[in-house]
Amino acid sequence: MDTEKKVIFSGIQPSGDLTLGNYLGAIKNWVRLQEDYDCYFCVVDLHAITVKQVPKDLRRRTLEVLSIYIAAGINPEKATLFIQSHVPSHSEASWLLTCNSYIGELGRMTQYKDKSKKMGDSINAGLFVYPVLMAADILLYNADLVPVGKDQKQHLELARDIAERFNKAYSPTFTIPEGYIPPAGAKIMDLQDPTKKMSKSTDNPNGCILIMDSPEVIRKKVSRAVTDSIGIVNYTEDQPGVQNLINIICAIKNISPEEVVKSYEGKGYADLKKDAAEIIIAELSPLQEKVKGLLDNKEYLESIYKKGAEKANYISQKTLRKMQKKIGFIPR
Ligand code: AMP
Ligand code: TRP
Repeated sequence: MDTEKKVIFSGIQPSGDLTLGNYLGAIKNWVRLQEDYDCYFCVVDLHAITVKQVPKDLRRRTLEVLSIYIAAGINPEKATLFIQSHVPSHSEASWLLTCNSYIGELGRMTQYKDKSKKMGDSINAGLFVYPVLMAADILLYNADLVPVGKDQKQHLELARDIAERFNKAYSPTFTIPEGYIPPAGAKIMDLQDPTKKMSKSTDNPNGCILIMDSPEVIRKKVSRAVTDSIGIVNYTEDQPGVQNLINIICAIKNISPEEVVKSYEGKGYADLKKDAAEIIIAELSPLQEKVKGLLDNKEYLESIYKKGAEKANYISQKTLRKMQKKIGFIPR
């Protein structure tokens, strides 16, 4: 029975085309976890508008992200798949939690510091309270586990702090969520600058493999990946480019870095790159075909996100009503 299972919540922003980092850091692990948990996977469009979006691209990407979830192997019959803006409790709970969050703690978030630096004088307030909305997402479903990439660890810790504070100020309301950060795909780095995480919002498209990139493009990007002058395939911090390629292989094939290093004894970077490219293509090609099929079937997608929103609305409203009551609002 679903009700006995522990709960997972996670989400991805439709703010740019999804990358291999999103796939290996998040989605691929969701697929593995879905059998054992009651899962909620959300397309977090409210988060996406903390940076400027072109409306028609946002619409296209929202459905594409949903299609990628399904194509990657999330079973919509088991997991609840929905679009964040279809479930108003997220915005409502977010306000209640904003009034229980501190400017100091929000200002310490590294993602805020990085993103706001690029925005000059017009930093929108949404970017600042973004982690509170993320806390609302997680806490409304009383999630036990939140599978995310390493870059979200700080936000997750803040969600725990906010939950504990609310529980203490009123009475026990929220489950305190744990993070689940995968061993191999936790931080896929930029191919052109392996000290930086691979990101949708990169300035150099060659550094970033998109889930929907064609085989030719993937071969080209991987063959140009920055390595080093050492020339031996080894898994060390001194060879971040090589380490990143090894991590990609490990995350896809579910093997250890030692196994990869061993199979390249006596071989060079060219072999490693060639194999890495083919491994990525073999993983992504079937998924891409399914995404294209799903995007041609908008009615099916609509049936999934409508059903998902219905369940998410039901569950999240129960938590929201509890919060409102404890705060002192008159029940409606
Ligand atoms: P975002 O693209 O910021 O919406 O991130 C969605 C999910 O993908 C989060 O769980 C991130 O931690 C994860 N993620 C994003 N970029 C990477 C990356 N380069 N390596 C590993 N995980 C990532
Ligand atoms: N902030 C997350 C990111 O950029 C996306 C996200 C929003 C999320 N709400 C969430 C992830 C809740 C996990 C749980 O990656």
